[in-house]
Amino acid sequence: MIRVAVIGAGHWGPNLIRNFHSGGPSQVRYVVDSRTERLAQLEPRYPGVTFTTELSQALGDPDVDAVVVSTPTATHAPICRAALEAKKHVLVEKPITHRAEDAAGLITLAAAQGRVLMVGHVFLFNPAVQYVKRLVDEGALGKIQYVSMVRTNLGPIRGDVSAAWDLASHDVSIADYWLSSAPEAVSAVGGVFINPGIHDVTFATLRYPKGVLVNLHTSWLNPRKARDITVVGDRRMLTFDDMNLLEPIRVYDKGVKDDVSPSVVDTFASFRASVREGDITIPKVAMGEPLKTECDHFLECIRTGKPPLTDAVRAAAVVRTLEAMDLSIARGGAEVRP
Ligand SMILES: NC(=O)c1ccc[n+]([C@@H]2O[C@H](COP(=O)([O-])OP(=O)(O)OC[C@H]3O[C@@H](n4cnc5c(N)ncnc54)[C@H](O)[C@@H]3O)[C@@H](O)[C@H]2O)c1
Repeated sequence: MIRVAVIGAGHWGPNLIRNFHSGGPSQVRYVVDSRTERLAQLEPRYPGVTFTTELSQALGDPDVDAVVVSTPTATHAPICRAALEAKKHVLVEKPITHRAEDAAGLITLAAAQGRVLMVGHVFLFNPAVQYVKRLVDEGALGKIQYVSMVRTNLGPIRGDVSAAWDLASHDVSIADYWLSSAPEAVSAVGGVFINPGIHDVTFATLRYPKGVLVNLHTSWLNPRKARDITVVGDRRMLTFDDMNLLEPIRVYDKGVKDDVSPSVVDTFASFRASVREGDITIPKVAMGEPLKTECDHFLECIRTGKPPLTDAVRAAAVVRTLEAMDLSIARGGAEVRP
């Protein structure tokens, strides 16, 4: 039985409490939140769990094996540092920290303490994201040329981080995973419309190795909730609609014929002839709760010592990309190396 303290019980924390306290191989011993009224709301649902505002009470208890951090991003670094210093394993929500140098410090500390440090990049546990990863790795799409990612909605509007840090952190983690690399250069522009200094919308272009382009449109100020991804390879293309729970992926056996040269595409008829239009397939993708898979994976890493799929090294690369996006926005869209 792995005994867990969950720190931060706002919007997302209760999902983590539920998963770690569901009668499986873990048990929540403490829920810590700085708001007493929030603790009072949740306490009746979890008899036997200690609800407290004191982080030190949970960290000082030798019966606590692991700490799960779901507080606002700016607070992640000090809470994770204290938890690792108390020799607890740590699962921290994404993004790991608000500064890349803080993430690097946590990586060193976790290694020195011999503790698991995992980050909640939950999309890497999504069966559809894993399906696309297999297609990319097997070469079923051919050489990846570009990826377009749209993540929009009306809200939730955050006051602590921008839409890029809140939302694009998901897309960057997915793109890094699929392309097995991090971007070499980033350019971005952003718009501030609601809270001073906090970007509500970001348009970013990331250049990955081998000439792959990734475009991100991220906004919490948009009438439509969209989670649309398009991956274009030179053999096949696919779309991934995370709003479509039954059929999220469509693989298009479409492309441009190899023998096309500019001289033969100078009429509409010859252009049509140069395009290959094959079948569209809708693969069956297993359903499941990615967050449960993520929580189970954390427990397995603690038990077996295996490195997490969403380790802190990967998560720190995401933070470097987000920092580069901020810098590019500040420089009017100039390309920045993360
Ligand atoms: N993986 C996902 O899909 C996903 C979804 C939503 C949020 N998140 C992440 O989860 C984290 C929390 O997001 P949220 O939407 O729940 O935020 P929230 O503001 O709703 O909740 C944060 C909670 O932390 C508490 N808190 C703040 N500082 C604290 C401290 N120092 N000690 C103890 N408690 C403290 C607040 O009182 C609040 O209850 C963020 O890092 C966010 O990026 C991840």
